[in-house]
Amino acid sequence: MSVKTDFLIIGSGIAGLYSALKLAKHGTVAIVTKKHKAESNTNYAQGGIASVFDPKDSFDRHIKDTLDASAGLCKLEAVKLVVEEGPAHIKELFKIGVPFTLDKNGNFDLGREGGHHFHRIVHVKDHTGRDVESNLLNKVKDEPNITIFEDHAAIDLITEHHTFSPGPANDSLLHCWGAYVLDSNSDKVVKFTSKATILASGGCGQVYLHTTNPGIATGDGVAMCYRAGASIANMEFMQFHPTTLYHPDAGSFLISEAVRGFGGTLITQDGLEFMQNYHPMKSLAPRDIVARAIDNELKKRGDRCVFLDVTHLDADKIRNRFPQIYEKCASFKIDITKEPIPVVPAAHYSCGGVVTDLNAKTIISGLFACGEVACTGVHGANRLASNSLLEALVFANRACQSAVQFVKAQKNQMPRIPHWDDAGTFNSEEWVLISHDKMEIKNLMWDYVGIVRSNLRLERALSRIRLIRQEIENFYRRTKVTDGLVELRNLATVAQLIIQSALLRKESRGLHYTTDYPKTNDEDFLKDTIVQHKTYPF
Ligand code: FAD
Ligand code: SIN
Repeated sequence: MSVKTDFLIIGSGIAGLYSALKLAKHGTVAIVTKKHKAESNTNYAQGGIASVFDPKDSFDRHIKDTLDASAGLCKLEAVKLVVEEGPAHIKELFKIGVPFTLDKNGNFDLGREGGHHFHRIVHVKDHTGRDVESNLLNKVKDEPNITIFEDHAAIDLITEHHTFSPGPANDSLLHCWGAYVLDSNSDKVVKFTSKATILASGGCGQVYLHTTNPGIATGDGVAMCYRAGASIANMEFMQFHPTTLYHPDAGSFLISEAVRGFGGTLITQDGLEFMQNYHPMKSLAPRDIVARAIDNELKKRGDRCVFLDVTHLDADKIRNRFPQIYEKCASFKIDITKEPIPVVPAAHYSCGGVVTDLNAKTIISGLFACGEVACTGVHGANRLASNSLLEALVFANRACQSAVQFVKAQKNQMPRIPHWDDAGTFNSEEWVLISHDKMEIKNLMWDYVGIVRSNLRLERALSRIRLIRQEIENFYRRTKVTDGLVELRNLATVAQLIIQSALLRKESRGLHYTTDYPKTNDEDFLKDTIVQHKTYPF
């Protein structure tokens, strides 16, 4: 089975859908997405999109807050263009129909979050992502040039590894011609060939036991790119969100940082504020600092959670501004207007990813990446709150411009590409191996590669993950592919990349804190920790 398209997009979150709308004018677009009803991290975004709309604010201030949060590692040009190009794309979303909350003068109501010295978060109450996703999806469904393939999981990018033509002399000349994709409804692998491919497959929070991310976030894009020979950078910088609901049935439900921006304060079990001991911005300090402070308080006091208190704020205003959070907590019998919310940190956002330039190009020709899967240089060692949706919009637009130019300039014929070959594989009965390995990886990452790290824990984690990966590879080679197996293989790869990157960084910086090198080393430090799978010669 095969599908031929001008542009293939892998993923249907904000980056994938916005790319699709931009590309539809230039040719046929196929979006493959792992789940029906467009499951994505985008759907769960609460706080909003950071951008300069208040005349008293300025691009320079937004740039400075981003640079300060990033602990000296982001690329100034990348930050500049995201901050400056962002507002136009937010206005486009508004035009498409995203019902951003307005103030009494009809301007965007601007919230505030950690690390921002200004109110600059455009939002739809506390369910921004849900409205962005649904409006983009509706618009995409109206475009005759776009076809969405739901329940289709990309397994691997098609590169010289798969073609009958000889491989290139070195990795820098690798080319992508689409992807092999598993149709979960028919259990068949479909060959999608394309003139250009946009990778928008999101993050990898599922590699950790506790995460705000939904089940789709298994790092497939990073793992596929790694196998194909692209450069992967800064995977040690996994962002832990400081405040997720502490309740056994809440599945790490996020309590938005906007709640602290609205006046909520962090307190211990006996009602004492503690953030003044860690940072002058107190509860609104950058996320890495707040998450580490909570971790430290929990360890020091032996408590299971800290609390986020909004009981001193106007109850009607809280219910109106945070309806989703109010309802969710109420469903667990917590009335947030009357009692503090129990919270703990959880894995939230991958600042590292597939390396791109300022035009979203990867080192594989014909392959562009945007959104959480990409490492564009905007986030450095710690992402500033609500800069992610902004980056996704700006780089999705840039990826499209690059892809269109690339296709116009392309003179080479597509080589003969074989169909997926699963000869010699069989349907395994051993599915318990998948669930067991998945939990082992998630526990290992949580216990050994969490908010606070050490050489001993990282080395132990590396030797364990190498073994697990080898076992999974052996199983994969013998077994007919399924969604679960594809994801497990990718989770194991991403876990190893995070551990290897963490071991490479011999200092503490931003989100990476290790007790063996507790200080930031500004004399002699790695700008980016790059890991690359050397694929040639085969
Ligand atoms: P996603 O939205 O995750 O989309 C990825 C898509 O790729 C999905 O459709 C998925 O099904 C698909 N996919 C994955 N693998 C495959 C595969 N192998 N084959 C086919 N399809 C695949 N950021 C902000 O800026 N502001 C916020 O307020 C905010 N709040 C957040 C709250 C929560 C709870 C979470 C989890 C994140 C939040 N973030 C926020 C981060 C932000 O939502 C994400 O970084 C952003 O939505 C990523 O968009 P994306 O398009 O790159 O990926
Ligand atoms: C939040 O609402 O706290 C999440 C914002 C983000 O991840 O940028």
